[in-house]
Amino acid sequence: MAINIQETLVGLRSEFTAQIVETESLQELENLRVSYLGRNGKLTLLIKEIGDLPPEMKKKLGILINETKSTLHGLMAAKKNELLKKDDWFDYSMPGKEAERGHLHLITKAINEITQIFNQIGFVRMRYPEVEWDWFAFTALNFPQNHPARDDWETFFLEEKSHSKYGKMLLSPHTSSGQVREMKRTKPPIRMLNIAKNYRRELDASHVVMLHQFEGLVIDKGVNITHLKGTLDYFVKQFYGPKIKTRLRPHNFKFTEPSFEVDVTCMICGGKGCKVCKEGWLEQAGAGMVHPNVLKSGGIDPKVYSGFAFGWGVERAYMMKPGLKLPDIRLIYQTDLRILKQL
Ligand code: PHE
Repeated sequence: MAINIQETLVGLRSEFTAQIVETESLQELENLRVSYLGRNGKLTLLIKEIGDLPPEMKKKLGILINETKSTLHGLMAAKKNELLKKDDWFDYSMPGKEAERGHLHLITKAINEITQIFNQIGFVRMRYPEVEWDWFAFTALNFPQNHPARDDWETFFLEEKSHSKYGKMLLSPHTSSGQVREMKRTKPPIRMLNIAKNYRRELDASHVVMLHQFEGLVIDKGVNITHLKGTLDYFVKQFYGPKIKTRLRPHNFKFTEPSFEVDVTCMICGGKGCKVCKEGWLEQAGAGMVHPNVLKSGGIDPKVYSGFAFGWGVERAYMMKPGLKLPDIRLIYQTDLRILKQL
């Protein structure tokens, strides 16, 4: 009986040893341990049998059993270490890598922010066509037929058939084409914010072929330049900060009279004057009082109503935001993550 147990023990030991060597994963090793040394393992059950043997036999076999167990444990520990070092080993308790999260494009964010600022003072966001008729982009806005903006080298005209009343089809070069559309859509009082894409034949550090503008249009009884100035000042303080101001400089647009260019306090030097701005101001937008002919194009009586309008480049406005590093407008559309991650 004792001899039998001893033989079986030796047999199981070599069988177990051979299997440990061939094990390829920690899970397999653990399964193996359970099948030999677990509560119902082959070795465990065998060892139980020695309880019935005479004492000296027990003692002899006991030594062998202990030795066998410690050898096997040693082998398993060595195998475990070897498996842990293997490259494909994965530590399930290791903290995970957080997936990178994207966000809206800078210009989408800017549009949302601008919309929000003007919503506060009652402007309603509109979106007028980017593929437009000449009439809305030029004629209705008091542009003469021979105006340079109507040159092929300024504006993209499409080869589609012309409209009998509205003329050629084009890619709108400014959001002002939404002015008369808004006048035709609704009656005064009007407080419109038209934000759309515009297209021009220009490409350099401060111009892109496709840009965005936001256009404000206010028409009501008794609207004057102070309302325009107040609106512009309100916007720059909300958008850039409380110390920022605007300045109106006389200019010429066909669809406003008088017309202005809008300068904003230079964010780089705080208005003291620096390399970028020279005199403390940066040109940002165009504005003016809506020309009576434009009101007439929209079916509004200029003797009763007056209004103001302004048009501002979204990219240009955003590039001046303090803390942003956007030295070249083209970077905004180059999907370079170092640029896009800035906000
Ligand atoms: N449409 C003009 C431009 O693109 C800006 C402007 C808008 C000027 C409204 C006056 C009034 O330059």
